[in-house]
Amino acid sequence: MRVAMIGSGYVGLVSGACFADFGHEVACIDKDPAKIAALEAGRMPIYEPGLEDLVRRNVAQGRLAFATDLTEAVAAADAVFIAVGTPSRRGDGHADLSYVVAAAREIAHAMRGYTVVVTKSTVPVGTGDEVERIIREERPDAEFAVVSNPEFLREGAAIADFKRPDRIVVGAEDARAADVMRELYRPLYLNQAPILVTSRRTAELTKYAANAFLATKITFINEMADLCEKVGADVQDVARGIGLDNRIGSKFLHAGPGYGGSCFPKDTLALIKTAQDAECPVRIVETVAAVNDQRKRAMGRKVVAACGGSVRGKRIAVLGLTFKPNTDDMRDAPSIAIVQALQDGGASVVAYDPEGMEQARTVLDDVAYARDPYACAEGADALVLVTEWDAFRALDLRRLRQIMAAPVLVDLRNVYRPDEVREAGFAYASVGRP
Ligand SMILES: NC(=O)c1ccc[n+]([C@@H]2O[C@H](COP(=O)([O-])OP(=O)(O)OC[C@H]3O[C@@H](n4cnc5c(N)ncnc54)[C@H](O)[C@@H]3O)[C@@H](O)[C@H]2O)c1
Repeated sequence: MRVAMIGSGYVGLVSGACFADFGHEVACIDKDPAKIAALEAGRMPIYEPGLEDLVRRNVAQGRLAFATDLTEAVAAADAVFIAVGTPSRRGDGHADLSYVVAAAREIAHAMRGYTVVVTKSTVPVGTGDEVERIIREERPDAEFAVVSNPEFLREGAAIADFKRPDRIVVGAEDARAADVMRELYRPLYLNQAPILVTSRRTAELTKYAANAFLATKITFINEMADLCEKVGADVQDVARGIGLDNRIGSKFLHAGPGYGGSCFPKDTLALIKTAQDAECPVRIVETVAAVNDQRKRAMGRKVVAACGGSVRGKRIAVLGLTFKPNTDDMRDAPSIAIVQALQDGGASVVAYDPEGMEQARTVLDDVAYARDPYACAEGADALVLVTEWDAFRALDLRRLRQIMAAPVLVDLRNVYRPDEVREAGFAYASVGRP
C-alpha cells in the first residue's frame, strides 16, 4: 500500500519507517525543511534507539522517502496519516488543533481517488468529525473516509512498541476504510496483535483514557511513596506487593519525581477540558494532574532538605535531564521544574545527560553542562539523579565521594540500594524508602 505520513516527528517518523519496513511504500512529509534535509542526508532529527538503521535500510530499498511538500505523496496514497503535534493550547489547556486542521486542509486539496485519512495525532473526541467536515468543505467531490488510529508507542522503545503493540485501535465509521487499515497492519495482525475496531469517537477517547489511567497509576504510587517516608515503610516493596496482583499489574508503579514528557501532561489536561465541556468532570484525573504538578517542585525542595535546608551558593550536579531515558525529548521534563527550584534557592546547577543536552539548552537557563557524570559531580555539594539512564546505574561511588565537595546523593529514581550508598560514605535520599 502507499502511505503518506504528514508530520515526521517522534510518532510520524517512527510509524512511517515501520510501515515501510512492513513492505509498504511510505513518504514522510514535514513542514520543517531542516528536518527533511537531515533525513535526506541520513541524519536523524531525533534520538530514538534503532531508528537510524531502520530508516537507512528502508530508504536504501526504495520504500521510504522524505519531502516538505505533501502534494505528490498524498495524490498517490491509499492512506494519509496525520501525525502532527497537538500541544496544549496556551491559556486554557485544550489540545491545540491548529496543526491538525491545517494538515487536513492541505490533504483535502491534494487527494486523488478514494483516500483514507487517518488521525494518528492524539486528538479530542469529535476531532475526526471536524476533519471530515473540513475536507468535505474543501473538496465536496472527494471520495474519502476519516479514521482514528491513536498511537500508543513509548519514546525510547518506539520501534519495538510499534512493531509489537499490545493492541491496535482503529476507529472507523466505514467498512472500506476499516479494511484498508487492516491491510496496512496485516503484518502485525499475523503476529497476533489484536486489532480493535471501534467507532471513531470511541477510539479518540480510548487514547486519552489510556494515558490518564497510566498517569493515575504513577501518581498513586508517588503518593504512596510520600506516605512511606512519613510512616517508615518501603514503597518498592509496597509496589511489588500490589503489582504481583494481576488485577493491578507491576508496570507504572515506580515512584519518582512525577510524570513528564510530551504526552501525559498535555493529554491529562486535554481530557480534563473535554470532560468539563461535556459537563462530566473527571475528578480523579483533575486531582492527578494537580498532584503531579506540585510534585516536581517538591522534588527540588527534597534536594534542598538533603543539603541541610539551603542550597544558596552551593553547586548542585544533576544527572539526567530528559523526561525519561533513551530519548532526547525535554518536553515537560521534571528536570525543568527541579532545576528551576534549585536555582530559585540560590544554587548553581551543572548537568549531564547522554542525549538531551542540546534540547535542554533551549529550555533551561543558566545551567552549565558537563561532558560526563564524573565531570558533572566534580566539586558538587550534592548529586541529584533525575533520569535513570543506564549510564547512571553503576557509578563508581567511591570515586564520586572523592571528587565531590560534599557526599550527598539524591536519587529520585531509586536506582541505588540505600545500604550500598551509605556504606560508600554518602548521605542518601531516595523516594519512599527508609
Ligand atoms: N511522542 C510520543 O511519544 C507520542 C506517543 C503517542 C502519541 N503521540 C501524539 O502524536 C502526535 C505527534 O507527536 P510527536 O511527538 O511526534 O510530535 P513532534 O512535534 O515530534 O512532530 C510533529 C511534526 O509535525 C510537523 N508538522 C506540523 N504541521 C505540519 C504540516 N501541516 N505538514 C507537515 N508537517 C507538519 C512538525 O514540523 C513536526 O516535525 C501528537 O498528537 C502526540 O500527542 C505522541
